[in-house]
Amino acid sequence: MRRTHSLLLLASVLLASVLLAAGCRGDLAIEPPIHLNPNMDNQKYIESQEGSKFWKDGRGMRPQVKGTIAIGELRENDRLYRGMVGNQLTKKLPVKLTENLLKRGKERYNIYCRPCHGRTGTGKNAPVVTKGIVIQPTSYLETRLRKMPIGHFFQVITKGIRNMPSYAVQIPVHDRWAIAAYVRVLQIAGSQPIERIPSAVRQRKGWSK
Ligand code: HEC
Repeated sequence: MRRTHSLLLLASVLLASVLLAAGCRGDLAIEPPIHLNPNMDNQKYIESQEGSKFWKDGRGMRPQVKGTIAIGELRENDRLYRGMVGNQLTKKLPVKLTENLLKRGKERYNIYCRPCHGRTGTGKNAPVVTKGIVIQPTSYLETRLRKMPIGHFFQVITKGIRNMPSYAVQIPVHDRWAIAAYVRVLQIAGSQPIERIPSAVRQRKGWSK
């Protein structure tokens, strides 16, 4: 009696599993097969570039709302962000000129500009130049550059110029001004008559005209 019972049980389990396995064949599954803990893994969403009937224009990706500005991107101050006043390059530094600003400028200059322009900004004996750079970087001591408004240096760093690439990605706006101010320091220091250096120092260093 017991035996027939267990045989029946076995037979029904087998039958059930065959039915289960075969039952769904041929059906089109829209949902992923078995997902015990859905965990919001599968949701209805629109892929990029996919269309959508929800909007009148049929576009799934929505255009930006006019006038939207990302946080921190409201760059209204032209002097600070573009180095311009109206359509003229600014002659005035838009940040406060302090010793710390110049120190920061010197540090950043030595990282980003010195390899090509050299320690004193003449471009002579700069590491990259001595290794055979094809285009000689312009000397900051050129009369044209000494007369340039400070905004020019900000713009050169921001946009690059001719063969020099832009450094806008590497150098944030305030650091660009610090560097521009430091370039001015190099210009002033580099264009003084040698007599302004005490003769003892000149002799010790072996500096002459
Ligand atoms: C990879 C080398 C390189 C680096 C780094 C570099 N420059 Fe230059 N720079 C040049 C070259 C080359 C020129 C000349 C471009 C030309 O005449 O085509 C130049 C030109 C300039 C000029 C002259 C612009 C003019 O009006 O003629 C200025 C100013 C200047 N660079 C500033 C900077 C500052 C500031 C930095 C650092 C943020 C910097 N450069 C970093 C290569 C470099």
